[in-house]
Amino acid sequence: GGRLRVREALSAQPQGCDVRVQGWVRSVRSQKEVLFLDINDGTSLQNLQVVADPKLESRDLCFGSSVDVQGKLVKSHHRKQNVELQAEDIRVVGSCDSIAFPFKLKERHAADYVRQFPHLRCKTNRFSSLLRIRSEATAAIHSYFQDNGYVHIHTPVISSNDCEGAGELFQVETPSKPSEPGGNSHFFDVPAFLTVSGQLHLEVVAGAFSRVFTFGPTFRAENSQSRRHLAEFYMVEAEISFTESIQDIMQEMENLFKVATAAILSRCHEDVELFHKYVAPGHKDKLDHMLKNKFVIMSYSEAIEVLKKAPEVFSFKPEWGCDLQKEHEKYLVKHCANIPVFVINYPYDLKPFYARDNVDGPQHTVAAVDLLVPEVGELYGGSLREERLHILQSRLDRLGLLDTYQWYLELRQFGTVPHGGFGMGFERYLQCILGVDNIKDVIPFPRFSHSCLL
Ligand code: 4AD
Ligand code: MG
Repeated sequence: GGRLRVREALSAQPQGCDVRVQGWVRSVRSQKEVLFLDINDGTSLQNLQVVADPKLESRDLCFGSSVDVQGKLVKSHHRKQNVELQAEDIRVVGSCDSIAFPFKLKERHAADYVRQFPHLRCKTNRFSSLLRIRSEATAAIHSYFQDNGYVHIHTPVISSNDCEGAGELFQVETPSKPSEPGGNSHFFDVPAFLTVSGQLHLEVVAGAFSRVFTFGPTFRAENSQSRRHLAEFYMVEAEISFTESIQDIMQEMENLFKVATAAILSRCHEDVELFHKYVAPGHKDKLDHMLKNKFVIMSYSEAIEVLKKAPEVFSFKPEWGCDLQKEHEKYLVKHCANIPVFVINYPYDLKPFYARDNVDGPQHTVAAVDLLVPEVGELYGGSLREERLHILQSRLDRLGLLDTYQWYLELRQFGTVPHGGFGMGFERYLQCILGVDNIKDVIPFPRFSHSCLL
């Protein structure tokens, strides 16, 4: 018979046609007259029920084993499904040692238990749903940009710049040759790092294309085991030329969030529902609330005033000029009725060299923006970029970076335009829409300080 994936079989007409389905056994129930199997192949959260003669049962046919089933697709009497597979032959492709297998039938395992088995966790319902959502989310984000006139750019993974200037770079090393005493460190003798952001490369391209984006892995040598930091994460970055103000950037940040989320909710409804029902009950309402409200805009100075007046006692006392801590971010979002909040116009000294100077007196600020969301905190960072040659030149000069960024200055010399952009942490985005508490549970193979399993 024709081969079908589980998803195809579930939506096929049960007309008794011969089919063949391959997958992994999610449950086995053996009764006197009949043997029931549930099989899954990752194409759907729902399993395909297989009904068989008990004499097709074997010791090797157990929870976790892989099977190749031939039979007929017939109408099911089960109220939850339309079709079932009446097996004529069941071949066990690979058995599963159920004693040693870390997951047990019908048990719901805690996320931190499942996380110990990065090589096996995609066999659980929750993690296979997550991977399908991650795939759809990737597609939805690409569609958003392609539909809105952005050109996709592959920015490099190996880079010579520290875009964020935070010194969180992983250095790239080529192997040293015994014939060369002392070895040749770095990238064939020149310094090179894993990228912390594709922004500066996007700015290059935005100097000729008005709207560009990239979506790839980024790396931060942050010695953090927190629930929202990874050493390797995916970032969605956009750069827009001919901007009028920071509002243009915020509008795109908000649109991307809302349009991509709506697409994901409609395209993987069942998988998202699993999270909203079992992983983070109540999260659906919180997300709907974020989607239907216009995001709040607040200046950094206002944010500091709000924090100073807060009845809460913070471990870091809020003062104008200090970075917002996680506790501050949480309070601000709560203060804004759990609607995502844009904080704009940060102190000059808090943001990297590229941020556009507001030239605004003693409380000197730049046109930078962070988007804060419930639970996760900072989801996006963005800014207008300094497009004025002389202002940028003197800032780089004071930082001792004139030589390093000669090429970046030249972008301001040859047809400069007001422009800006943003970066969104893709894993934090998934946490935010699904209600997942730990960032390590939204990426297939998490890398963080002291941990690189597999
Ligand atoms: O705020 P960041 O550092 O901004 C930039 O890198 C800009 N150059 C982006 C741009 O304008 N093109 O990082 C952007 C986002 C953060 O808001 C956060 O969501 C995420 O990336 N992020 C991390 N996610 C997981 N683990 C980490 N260690 C992260 N560091 C940043
Ligand atoms: Mg940031």
